[in-house]
Amino acid sequence: MSDVKKGLAGVVADVTAVSKVDPETNTLLYRGYPVQELAATQPFESVAYLLWHGELPAAGQLDEQRAAERAQRALDPDVRTLLDMLPLDAHPMDDVRTAVSLLGARELAGTGSVLDASGSVEDNLRRSLTLFAALPAIVAYGQRRRRGLEPVPARDDLDYAANFLWMTFGEESDPVVVDAFNRSMILYAEHSFNASTFTARVVTSTLSDLYSAVVAAIGALKGPLHGGANEAVMRVFDEIGDASQVPAWLDTALAQKRKIMGFGHRVYKRGDSRVPTMKTALDSLVAHYDRPDVLELYSALESEFVARKGIYPNLDYPSGPAYNLIGFDTATFTPLFVAARVTGWTAHILEQAASNALIRPMSQYDGAAERHVDGYVPLADEL
Ligand code: CMC
Repeated sequence: MSDVKKGLAGVVADVTAVSKVDPETNTLLYRGYPVQELAATQPFESVAYLLWHGELPAAGQLDEQRAAERAQRALDPDVRTLLDMLPLDAHPMDDVRTAVSLLGARELAGTGSVLDASGSVEDNLRRSLTLFAALPAIVAYGQRRRRGLEPVPARDDLDYAANFLWMTFGEESDPVVVDAFNRSMILYAEHSFNASTFTARVVTSTLSDLYSAVVAAIGALKGPLHGGANEAVMRVFDEIGDASQVPAWLDTALAQKRKIMGFGHRVYKRGDSRVPTMKTALDSLVAHYDRPDVLELYSALESEFVARKGIYPNLDYPSGPAYNLIGFDTATFTPLFVAARVTGWTAHILEQAASNALIRPMSQYDGAAERHVDGYVPLADEL
């Protein structure tokens, strides 16, 4: 079994120009730019453009993309009808997966043959922008529907982040909140060959279509070892209650061999490069909402767990409480991750399609030795 790379750990599966993760230096570059710089200076729309096109947009290019995005922000009536058919206690990630599937089926109607599904670069850039534009309304409506509220019409005079919050809460958010949310979207946008992005690339490698790849990626992101961890972090915070409970809670959790959500990473072993930027955003939200108790619990769990296990927080650790402070329902946190990561997924889909090789690894067989059906006794004959 020595050649088996369980979980593909350490396997370099392909080259990419979309982002560079360097755990040795704790660096994350999107198309060469440090993510911290992008988060501090750019609207999320510019980072989406960067991921898709390889360069930050010139003013005219950003205006053009913004106009196209704003024109597609409204909640699609067919999507609303479909979402209304789902149980209120369905997980919001299932809303998002279902809605993207509908958008894909409609867009690809008439393509006729599987041979025509994958589309041109222009088709896929247009489809990427459609999903980027449509997801905030889908995620926002998911939260509002569960609260018994009508959808809020999109605004075309607000940037992506401000409009997302507007459609969710029906009021304009404070600039501190918009800035923290915008930073979180940028930090979540891209992270090389993580499980969901790799899933999208596997689907693309079969010459399937962009929507199928995104639906599959959403499924991969839902799991708590990946994107679902931001929801799981908040559930842990709720379970612990307050900072004074941390040592006793951790004693029990570790005795039960529980994974502590929001800690650890397959690639980073000495801390996640995105955490300091998101922690700064969390600090600003804690000050804005005057909730020092959140920071006390955050710091107590972090210092106690790091001291005991030497395992550091990942991005989901500060994002969970940040989204809670903003007012998102806990089950909505991972759909927010979808809205951000759809930019990275689609950049990778474009890259995979441009230089494709079918992704099809090998396995080492470890089952029954060869045998033959003439020795098989059917159950009925045994009685
Ligand atoms: N809590 C407790 N123990 C942990 C944790 C954790 N969060 N993370 C790693 N360990 C332990 C693990 O039990 C194992 O111990 P041992 O060698 O004694 O069996 C050792 O550290 C190695 O862990 P692993 O799970 O084999 O390592 P991995 O590289 O496969 O794990 C991980 C990476 C993210 C799956 C894991 O750290 C984990 O489950 N973390 C909690 C879930 C989480 O926060 N996921 C978000 C990941 S980052 C952002 C994203 O994708 O959204």
